Parts: sequence; C-alpha cells; structure tokens
Amino acid sequence: MTDTTHESRGRLPRTAAVIPAAGSGQRLGPGIPKALRPLGGTPMLVHAVRAMARARAVVLVVVVAPSAEVEAVRSLLDEHPPPSGVDQLVVPGGATRQESVRSGLDVLPEDIEVVLVHDAARPLVPVDTVDAVAAAVRAGAPAVVPALPLTDTVKEVAPPSAVGAPEPVVATPDRSLLRAVQTPQGFERATLVKAHDRLAGVAEAAATDDAGLVERLGVPVVLVLGHEEAFKVTRPLDLVLAEAVLARRRLNDGF
Ligand code: CTP
Ligand code: MG
Repeated sequence: MTDTTHESRGRLPRTAAVIPAAGSGQRLGPGIPKALRPLGGTPMLVHAVRAMARARAVVLVVVVAPSAEVEAVRSLLDEHPPPSGVDQLVVPGGATRQESVRSGLDVLPEDIEVVLVHDAARPLVPVDTVDAVAAAVRAGAPAVVPALPLTDTVKEVAPPSAVGAPEPVVATPDRSLLRAVQTPQGFERATLVKAHDRLAGVAEAAATDDAGLVERLGVPVVLVLGHEEAFKVTRPLDLVLAEAVLARRRLNDGF
C-alpha cells in the first residue's frame, strides 16, 4: 500500500468520498437494508468503503446510513478500520438518494476540494476506476462520470393504454450515442454543493445521479471509461454475479 501513505495523499487535492447507503433495496427483496447484505461474508458497504479508501487521493469517507442503522454502521466500520491517513464518518440519510447525498455533503470539512459520490450498491468498483475519476477532476473537469457503452438496444415507450397492456414504442435512440453511467462520480466540491443547493426539493429536477443535477446548472459533465465490475447490485441476480466476481478475485489474488 505504498501509494496510500498520509504523505502521498498530502500532495493531492483533499478528496472525500460520500457513500449513499441509506436505501432499503426494494428491488432486491425483503430483508435488511441492501448496503448491509453480505457479499463474500462481508457487508456490501464494507466493500464499497474499502474501494474508496484505497484510492490514492481519498482522505475521508462519509457513509450515509439508514437512520435506524447509524450506530450499527459505526460499529461495523470500527471493525474494518481504513488505511492510515483516511478518516471515516457516518451520518443518517434521507428519503431519497439525493437527500442522502446532501446529508453527506453537509458534514464535509472546509478543506475538502474534490468529492467522489459512490453508491454503496456498487461494492466491487476497481480502485483504478476510482483513481481515474479523481484524476480527471484534478486535471480540471468540474464533473466526471464513469460510463460504459450499452449492450442492449433501448426503446422509448409511451404509457400503455391500460395497466399491464403492451407498451407502444415511440422511438429507438441511436445506441452508439448512449452510455450507461456508474459511480463514483467526481466533482469539484463547490460545483456539486451549488447543484444540490439550487435543486434541493425541486421535484422536476429530481435526478437519479449527481451529475444530472450538475448538468442542470449548465456545467459541463464529461465521461471516462467505467468498468463492468462497477455494476450496481439492484436485483437478486446481481448478487449472484457479485459473489462470482468476488470469488474469482479471491482465487486470482487472494483479495
Ligand atoms: N440511497 C440512499 N438513500 C436513499 C435511497 C438510496 O442513500 N433514500 C442509496 C442506496 O443505499 C444505494 C444508492 O443510493 O447505495 C443507489 O440506489 P439504489 O441502487 O436504487 O438502492 P435502493 O434505493 O436501496 O434500492 P431500491 O431502489 O431497489 O429500493
Ligand atoms: Mg433506489
């Protein structure tokens, strides 16, 4: 871990990771909150925190936990201490992802210049992807998103005539111009905070990612290449895939 000493981090802009982990995981099915479900025997959240804490620039990880689980998450993170030079904070989240991210931004120390927002539900993002996003922000982009080309063709539909009826197709967007976006999304701290301040509570501005808010400010957002292992654990089948990826990593490098 030669790159993660306090000294080497000190030469980079002070960077914090905010990890929204306050969702329940409706699509995964009933059970404990999604971020606390085990993956290879360790809660998904711990994998996500580790991935962020290992990134070269990160000096602080803020976990936004389900409000009923704040103490449990604090103890969990105490059991899995970060590398030296990285601090951890746990705060309660809100009713939407956007509100949860906002709660994390609210506790950032003043000296933080760059913020990476990363879903707890993407526990297996490779550290190289995290470093690439942070590096692109350092190089001057105010907002950076990892993304991949789509493999499926996408159709735009109109609402069906009745619930359960077949949906009319209205368009087939050119797939070569579409990208599926991932996290961590990286931002100049001031830009991200401004976007959340301006758009908090504006229903029409509700976005499922942070870059979506920044776009609404008219600030340019750029994409870098994401990674297929940064996929989001959303449905039960994703857990099967995540277990398989983890098992392969453990075989390959004793991760
Ligand atoms: N999230 C959050 N606060 C919320 C809702 C979501 O912090 N009120 C977080 C989730 O914990 C997750 C990330 O945002 O790490 C991405 O959201 P998603 O994958 O949709 O997770 P859930 O909202 O928990 O899942 P679902 O939509 O299936 O209920
Ligand atoms: Mg959700």
